[in-house]
Amino acid sequence: MTAPRTVLVTGSSGLIGSEAVTYFDARGWVVHGVDNNMRRDFFGPDGDTTWNLERLRRTTRRFTHHPLDIRAREAVLALLAEHRPNLVIHSASQPSHDLAKDRPFDDFDVNAVGTLNLLEATRRACPTSPFVFMSTNKVYGDVPNERPLVELETRFDYARPEDHEGIAETCRIDACLHSLFGASKVAADVLVQEYGRYFDMPTVCLRGGCLTGPRCSGAELHGFLAYLARATREGRPYRIYGYKGKQVRDNIHSFDVCTFFEAFWRRPRVAAVYNLGGGRANSVSMLEAVDRFERLIGKKLQVEYVDQNRVGDHICYISDLRRIRADYPEWDLQYGLDRTFEEISAA
Ligand SMILES: NC(=O)c1ccc[n+]([C@@H]2O[C@H](COP(=O)([O-])OP(=O)(O)OC[C@H]3O[C@@H](n4cnc5c(N)ncnc54)[C@H](O)[C@@H]3O)[C@@H](O)[C@H]2O)c1
Repeated sequence: MTAPRTVLVTGSSGLIGSEAVTYFDARGWVVHGVDNNMRRDFFGPDGDTTWNLERLRRTTRRFTHHPLDIRAREAVLALLAEHRPNLVIHSASQPSHDLAKDRPFDDFDVNAVGTLNLLEATRRACPTSPFVFMSTNKVYGDVPNERPLVELETRFDYARPEDHEGIAETCRIDACLHSLFGASKVAADVLVQEYGRYFDMPTVCLRGGCLTGPRCSGAELHGFLAYLARATREGRPYRIYGYKGKQVRDNIHSFDVCTFFEAFWRRPRVAAVYNLGGGRANSVSMLEAVDRFERLIGKKLQVEYVDQNRVGDHICYISDLRRIRADYPEWDLQYGLDRTFEEISAA
């Protein structure tokens, strides 16, 4: 009998990490999760992931949790050296665009330095194992806002036919406003590509649109749909910042992110970069999302509208999925918007 494969998942109590733990555990892998619940430190009690870790402990078979900080370089090097995983999924981060300005050192140390620690640990311990990095569409800064838009009744949309499919990976990433979060993720994204090209390692940067699902510990500063559902359910006031609530996001369910992890593990490439979101079919504006949750949950949301938009916020962002689909035709989204909203409403 062959030994089971091993995957190391960072951010394993978070939205994407916990879905990855469940996904690979269910497929017979040995799973090592790394998470120090820093989400609670970043976002307060709403961000606490303890419930999710406990759920994983109850529902998985081959999962070991390591409450390790990815900034702890020696510990990260030792962990990789001990387990030499067949796959590394790096999804631990300070994930908030807005929080980064208040915690610039933590943001950079976690997002950029933590990624370097993991890359170097992987290179030393298991350089042929695919390394998957959860990057973000914020690496494009506010460049997507340069696209001409039309204003429709409930959303903005791209004005030109050539922009219809959304933002492609060829979008410029410099000479623009990123937020400190976007800048620390650019540093990590470029490092992941460099380890691919320079050391010929199978790495991929997945530049996420809105990643979502019922395992998100939604907080006001991060986890758009999960927090919107929570506010609707619990009668909390919800603030919409600027753009008349017509800003558009494309949403991908965390399960569909994991099916791509597996697709990449099966056919890895060197220094790959993909936009990974729900695409046009799974795009919603704030106004449309509020309307959907109000109908599903059966309560009216107390919306407070703030004129000023968040600094550098995208007005209309849809991930162009043509590159990822061309390279991995066997992968596709299984969740549409209806199912995603239903699951989050019921969480
Ligand atoms: N959620 C989104 O909409 C979205 C969009 C684009 C990109 N991303 C990226 O995807 C990745 C996963 O996002 P998510 O929504 O699952 O975030 P999340 O906050 O739910 O999960 C991240 C986890 O990392 C852990 N963590 C933070 N700092 C750590 C540290 N120093 N050491 C160990 N663990 C630490 C947190 O406790 C948390 O559980 C992140 O890299 C994020 O930037 C997310």
